[in-house]
Amino acid sequence: MIEFRKLTKSYDHKVNVVDQLDMVINDGELVVLIGESGCGKTTTMKMINRLIEPTSGEILVNGENVLAMNPIELRRNIGYVIQKVGLMPHMTVADNIELVAYLKKWDKKKRRQRSSELLDMVGLDPALYLDRYPHELSGGQQQRIGVARALAVNPDIILMDEPFSAVDPITREQLQEELIRLQDEVKKTIVFVTHDMDEALKLGDKIAVMKDGKIIQFDTPENILKNPINEFVEYFVGKDRLWKSPEMLFAQDIMHKRPTGVLADRTPAYALELMREKETEFLVVVDAPSDRPRHMLGVITPRELKGKGTVEKNKMRDLMRTNHPTVTERTNMVDVLSLMKTHHVRNIPVLGEEDGYFKGLITYGSIVNIITDAITEIESDEGKEVSHDQ
Ligand SMILES: Nc1ncnc2c1ncn2[C@@H]1O[C@H](COP(=O)(O)OP(=O)(O)OP(=O)(O)O)[C@@H](O)[C@H]1O
Ligand SMILES: [Mg+2]
Repeated sequence: MIEFRKLTKSYDHKVNVVDQLDMVINDGELVVLIGESGCGKTTTMKMINRLIEPTSGEILVNGENVLAMNPIELRRNIGYVIQKVGLMPHMTVADNIELVAYLKKWDKKKRRQRSSELLDMVGLDPALYLDRYPHELSGGQQQRIGVARALAVNPDIILMDEPFSAVDPITREQLQEELIRLQDEVKKTIVFVTHDMDEALKLGDKIAVMKDGKIIQFDTPENILKNPINEFVEYFVGKDRLWKSPEMLFAQDIMHKRPTGVLADRTPAYALELMREKETEFLVVVDAPSDRPRHMLGVITPRELKGKGTVEKNKMRDLMRTNHPTVTERTNMVDVLSLMKTHHVRNIPVLGEEDGYFKGLITYGSIVNIITDAITEIESDEGKEVSHDQ
């Protein structure tokens, strides 16, 4: 765990470059620092491994004040990856990766075993790459070596300062995917700096949006997108981004929260009347009235009722269809849409993730509403910009 307490950095002619930061980064979390150039991201990061000394405040790593630690020892125990990789040009890939292990006096066999293992981990064949020199590698490959080097002595904490910003967009995407995969495996505590909100949303367990040395919002990607705390964060996120990131939009955000249900022992006549009244052709058959938690038992549409309208002994439970697809509250919009498409349905009941209760209903209408909202917001924003210019 990394904890900042009123962490502050000032220079003679520039005060509060980092301004009273309070923040807790839990073990195994990847936290992204994002903000405009000069807002203090690198300074914050470098204070963690004491490449920069704070003016005031504290940094605790696993409860211990880093200012009381030997800075060299501290740095050897924290992985560090930077934009301009910083590989030693006259050393082979293996020697580059093994540098800290060497300083820690690991024996040669153990070092070589570890560097081979790490090359594998970052997707490079050790047989081909161990003995190469940095200039024989592409920018993306060099970045991978940078990541491997940071992992070499298995540190709990890794600092990454815009590690992928100097490579082309395709390589960048690959490196991001690899980091996600790697993080699944190794579960390090990672502080990751970027300018790029897409990258932040993709990688971060949490995102800290910074401005003028302060943290404006520290939250999950989902909350940053859906509940930006003020206009600055909203501007930074970009209003249309939620719509551009449909995988961040979940069934619970789209669904009707008071869906119409019909009890299992109701008659066809009752169901038809309910459909007329609610102007719907889709009823979910439930086991309890709407003021109580209820399970979905099946669905009823006019098709199931056809010709049954007058046969009163038929109840919903005898007529309902039980194979209709459902989703949970946390199913994302992309999956909801693809389910609608593959099953040719326009309505999907939403069930509780944990309790399995019937929670809501997604209809074509609810999706159209979301799309219209997004488009209206984007348009009205663009309108604002135009009037600005005039
Ligand atoms: N040694 C220094 N002396 C004076 N001011 C400094 C010094 N180092 C950094 N600064 C200032 O501190 C502020 C924060 O710098 P920092 O490098 O942390 O920004 P950053 O958020 O990482 O920016 P970027 O996105 O451009 O990398 C900047 O305004 C910078 O000019
Ligand atoms: Mg920086």
